[in-house]
Amino acid sequence: MSTDMNDPVEIRLRDGLRDRWYAVCPSNWVKAKPISLKRLGTEIALWRDGSGKVHALEDRCPHRGAHLSQGQILGDMLKCPYHGVEVRCDGVAVAVPGSPGCKLEGSRATRNFPTMEHEGAIFVYNGSQYTANPPEFKMPVELTDDETYSRFLCYMEWKCDYRYVLDNVVDPMHGTFLHKQSHAMYQGDISAKFELDDTDAGFVFAKKGQKDVNFDWSEFGDTGGQWVKLEIPYPKTGGPGSGFIIIAMATPIAPNLCGVYFWRVRKVPRGWARDTWRFLYRDRLEARHWHVVEQDRVLLEELAPNANDPKLEHLYDHDQGVVRLRREMRKMAKAQVEGA
Ligand code: FES
Ligand SMILES: [Fe+2]
Repeated sequence: MSTDMNDPVEIRLRDGLRDRWYAVCPSNWVKAKPISLKRLGTEIALWRDGSGKVHALEDRCPHRGAHLSQGQILGDMLKCPYHGVEVRCDGVAVAVPGSPGCKLEGSRATRNFPTMEHEGAIFVYNGSQYTANPPEFKMPVELTDDETYSRFLCYMEWKCDYRYVLDNVVDPMHGTFLHKQSHAMYQGDISAKFELDDTDAGFVFAKKGQKDVNFDWSEFGDTGGQWVKLEIPYPKTGGPGSGFIIIAMATPIAPNLCGVYFWRVRKVPRGWARDTWRFLYRDRLEARHWHVVEQDRVLLEELAPNANDPKLEHLYDHDQGVVRLRREMRKMAKAQVEGA
C-alpha cells in the first residue's frame, strides 16, 4: 500500500470503494430508535420505518450539521432534533419548519444510502452519487440458496485495517502454520505450489494438487459487493454435510478498525442432517471455530499499521492471491478517483 495519507487512491481504499454494497451491522442492532454508525469514512444514521424496513442517511443534518440520528423517526424520514428539518431517506429535505419555502426545502442535500437486509446483516450501498436503484449484490450461492445451505453469521470488530482481513482470507497457506493445532488444519504440506484462475468476477487461488485436506483455496468475488469464500474440511466427527465453508466480508469503520462478517456455512439438506449440524455447531464446533478465529484476530491486530508497505514486505509464491487482490483493489480505487 502507499503510506501517503494524502494520496486520494489510498484514501479511497482506506474508506472503502464506492458503488458497492457493504455490510454495516447485524440486523438486530437497529430496533425502535435510530442509531448512528461510523462506517466507510462517514457517519451513517440507520432506522426502521413502521413496517420494519431499514433506511439510512448520512448522519448529518443539511441545515447546521446536527446528528439526524438524535431526532425522531417519521416513517422513511428523520426529523432533526435541532430545528426540526425533515430529511427523507432519498436525501431530500422535505420540510423546513423554521423557514418554509427556503432554498433547502425540496433540495437533495444529504447523502443517501440504499439499504437491504440479508442473512442477519444490514447492508448499505456506498454510491458515489445519488442513486434510487442501485445494482443488485449478487451474493455467493451459499448465502442465497436456503434449500442447499445452512449458515450462522458471526460478527466481530477487529482493531486493524479491513484490508488485513481480506489479505488474510486470500492467504490459504497461513492455515498450515497459524492454525496448525486446530481441529481440521493439521494436515497437508507446509510448502505448496499455487495456481491462480480467473472467474467471471474475481479469482480463485488454490494449492496445486491438494484439495479438501486443509484450508487449500480461496475465492475472491466482486459482484456488487466484495466477498471471499473458502472451505475447510470437517473431521469425521463434524457430522453430516460438506466441508466448513466461510463467506467473509470486511467493512472499514476507522483507519485501524473494521467490521468482520463471517458466515459459517455448510452444504447440508434440510431435515435431520441439517438439524444435526446446527445442534453440533452450537454444542461443540462453534467454540472451536472461535478459538481459530481468535488466532487470526490476535495476529492481525498486532500487525504494524504499515505491515503491508511494499517497501518493507518480502512476498513470495504463496502471496500471489494477496498480490492479485491488492492490485485489483488499487486499480478499482484509481479508476474511481480519476473518474470522479
Ligand atoms: S441542524 Fe438540523 S434543523 Fe438545524
Ligand atoms: Fe485464519
